[in-house]
Amino acid sequence: MRDYICRAGITGLSTSIPEKVLTNYDLEKMVETSDDWINARTGIKERRIVENDKTTCDLACEAGQNALENAGIGPEELDLVIVATNTPDMIFPATACLVQDRIGAVNAGAFDLLAGCTGFIYGLTVGQQYVAAGAYDKVLVIGAETLSKIINWKDRNTCVLFGDGAGAAVVQQVPREYGIISSVLGSDGSGGKLLKLPAGGSKLPASEETVRQGLHYVDMSGREVFKFAVRAMGEGTRKALSKAGMGSEDLDLLIPHQANIRIIDTAAKKAGIDMDRVLVNVDRFGNTSTASVPIALCEAVEQGKIKRGDNIVMVGFGAGLTWASLLMTWY
Ligand code: ACO
Repeated sequence: MRDYICRAGITGLSTSIPEKVLTNYDLEKMVETSDDWINARTGIKERRIVENDKTTCDLACEAGQNALENAGIGPEELDLVIVATNTPDMIFPATACLVQDRIGAVNAGAFDLLAGCTGFIYGLTVGQQYVAAGAYDKVLVIGAETLSKIINWKDRNTCVLFGDGAGAAVVQQVPREYGIISSVLGSDGSGGKLLKLPAGGSKLPASEETVRQGLHYVDMSGREVFKFAVRAMGEGTRKALSKAGMGSEDLDLLIPHQANIRIIDTAAKKAGIDMDRVLVNVDRFGNTSTASVPIALCEAVEQGKIKRGDNIVMVGFGAGLTWASLLMTWY
């Protein structure tokens, strides 16, 4: 492990969860599917959907402001705001800048981070570098999504999987025996075609034709992504532990990206971790992409499943293709 000036850890956490619940039974009325199929193939029972007039920035601000409160710091103390998202309010300006303005982080820089569903773990790693190097004191990392706005609600292959939400963490210096110990970032762009939003960028600018062909919706090769996910999550977990000289027996809780219970089960098995040490809430939220790990982390802390001194690993995969894992001793 490299020498840093100090250890960086999470000092505040919060979420923003939309009120509206969309169950598998609701979806049965929208596409040809069933609660049985969705539950058996994914473990999802329901997900949350934002109101039409709400945006990713709205969810990000709520989660971010509450995380600052939880950390006991004011917005003007922030040095940096990072928003990991696949569903920014606009292509530009960055949603992070909208958040920075709305929450009053007047002394902070701000940028969006695009790494598929892995974005939050990428963001934590970036925030950690600034804090541990002594460059910045306080960084706000947010994972926020309104995936419901880019899903084809007539496509049963994708519309049953995703949900909306946000989670945020404040990254600051913590005592040496706590905080982030290791992280692993990975990318395999050759798999970029497996999970994409084809139009709206410079390759296929928005036109009547792209809209007619439904190219502004999530396009996914589910089976291929599944195979990649199982491998990436299993290996990612093992690598974060081994980089810190630890084994699976040293882990207290695994916080995996919540995409599919079968992916989580198999990946945990591959990493040698029994399901008693794995946080699962995919049944209630579906795949909220960058928000899934911070929502699960926050839930684990609130439910007392994580206590000071516990070793936890966050692991995720997503569009890119990307994957990442991060090991920290909870402060
Ligand atoms: N209801 C009923 N039947 C369905 C549904 C549905 N909602 N969706 C697909 N089917 C059908 C298919 O059409 C197919 O029928 P066919 O055999 O007649 O062609 C059959 O069910 C089996 O389809 P598969 O794709 O083989 O099903 P699989 O077991 O692979 O499960 C799933 C599909 C759930 C999508 C799985 O592949 C998966 O979870 N993949 C990973 C997806 C993922 O995690 N994506 C998020 C990535 S993260 C990010 O960055 C956004």
